[in-house]
Amino acid sequence: MSVDQIIQVRDLTKIYKSKKRTGLFRSKKNEVHALKGISFNVDEGEIFGLLGPNGAGKTTLIKILTTLLLPSSGTARVNGFSLEDENGIKASIGAMLMGERGLYWKLTGRENLEYFGALYHVPKSIRKSRIQSLIDLLELEKIVDRTVETYSSGQKMKMVFARALINDAPILMLDEPTNTLDVKEARRLRNIVKNQNELGKTIIYCTHQMYEAEELCHRVGIIDQGQIIALDDPHDLKDSLEDNDILSVEGNIPEIARMAVESIPGVISASMLTKRVNNGSSEERPYLNIVCDNSRTKLPQIISVLSSNGTIIQNIDKKETTLEDVFINITGRSLMDDTRVESSN
Ligand SMILES: Nc1ncnc2c1ncn2[C@@H]1O[C@H](COP(=O)(O)OP(=O)(O)O)[C@@H](O)[C@H]1O
Ligand SMILES: [Mg+2]
Repeated sequence: MSVDQIIQVRDLTKIYKSKKRTGLFRSKKNEVHALKGISFNVDEGEIFGLLGPNGAGKTTLIKILTTLLLPSSGTARVNGFSLEDENGIKASIGAMLMGERGLYWKLTGRENLEYFGALYHVPKSIRKSRIQSLIDLLELEKIVDRTVETYSSGQKMKMVFARALINDAPILMLDEPTNTLDVKEARRLRNIVKNQNELGKTIIYCTHQMYEAEELCHRVGIIDQGQIIALDDPHDLKDSLEDNDILSVEGNIPEIARMAVESIPGVISASMLTKRVNNGSSEERPYLNIVCDNSRTKLPQIISVLSSNGTIIQNIDKKETTLEDVFINITGRSLMDDTRVESSN
């Protein structure tokens, strides 16, 4: 194994076990296989993306790599430390976990940063200046002396991000860090992530938004139902679909028409997806996403099959390939689909 590989993950599995009451004296064992044998390496200095829908296993994986959770089997090394070496790993990473309430609500932002600075052994002599540089970097001046309980969810997110940077660790693990931020703040945060990477930090970036992975990551592991189903740099992932075209059809499209399109020879998949209407509103519009091997020759047949199955076509476009298309091509599902398994099922 090369020393340049700052993170090495081998065959990690995680099974969540729980019991479900099925009667007064009866219960049924329930298992959720959240990770089914995950292996990958992260090179020193890269931004490595984990892209996958809700329920794919991203948070579980990050929790294991940050020693918050034990794997069921498998091993990993982070900055040379094995998962058993909690202190070694904690000194090597700054982490930001999704949905984490890792801030003290009754303390101000500044008091939180001072507390975590001490906890992560940031020397007292540089703690104040480190905190000030984070306040400047993340534009926290206006909120830093208010108690965290008064923060909006976006402000909390930024404070949790500041906390992840407090010990200036060589590795950052970020789990959907832009999730509650507005578009402008999210863009700003991604720029800071890029900047931290240019300053030398290795970053694992989890997201279910394909454009974030495309914009930020040197390499992307696409994760689905506990497995990495593709791993490459974003361009090569998209090039793997090079021979395929993607059409987007808007209109009133019955399920029977979708199925008929999917059965046309040369059509690889036809899935109903939604896209955000591009007028600043949050309105979403359904469309049929068709992956086929040569759209120019297939188009007349696709149109005729759609029409004869009751579709009123409003618009047809040829789309640029995205990482979402790579995901759809492998799984037949959209990244926006929720694949979480309820542990109480
Ligand atoms: N504490 C838990 N107990 C049981 N099942 C869980 C628990 N946490 C997560 N899961 C399940 O494990 C799977 C992976 O979840 P998660 O790691 O949160 O995925 P992601 O972060 O990609 O959305 C999902 O099916 C989820 O429902
Ligand atoms: Mg998650």
